[in-house]
Amino acid sequence: MIKNNKPYLITFSIHGDDRGKLVVTQSHEDIPFDIKRVFYIYNTLSGTVRGKHANRESEFVMVAICGNCKIRVCCANGEETFELSSANKGLFLPKMSWKEMYDFSDDCILMVIASTCYDNNEYIRDFGDFQKELDLLRKKEV
Ligand code: TYD
Repeated sequence: MIKNNKPYLITFSIHGDDRGKLVVTQSHEDIPFDIKRVFYIYNTLSGTVRGKHANRESEFVMVAICGNCKIRVCCANGEETFELSSANKGLFLPKMSWKEMYDFSDDCILMVIASTCYDNNEYIRDFGDFQKELDLLRKKEV
């Protein structure tokens, strides 16, 4: 199962009229999980790389609601880099994804929708440890 879980981009519908635009998303429509938490990253200093961790339990959808940034993802499916630059595009990240967010524009607001409440214990913050855990999970599924 871990092999089939891969990151993918989601396009949210835009409800636009002559007043402007509105994007909405909710659990089990475009977001494939129950939403438990939302946080956002902004005022990021130039050159900063955020993330650099994986989560054993959480799934995420990341949306650059303003500006743009890049996200490098490493998971059982391999490594892939995504660019987020539209308020109506989200990036789904499965459990056990190592992620690095970088190249933030000065105006970037990166909103993160999560399937869990915050728990520091589900974080893997060392890339070597992450690779070992991923290998163990792969072996279990063979
Ligand atoms: P951190 O995980 O380092 O952020 P990033 O993944 O963007 O690099 O989190 C920064 C701080 O915020 C850290 O002290 C933990 C805290 N935090 C919470 O309290 N709750 C949360 O939901 C998140 C994501 C972070």
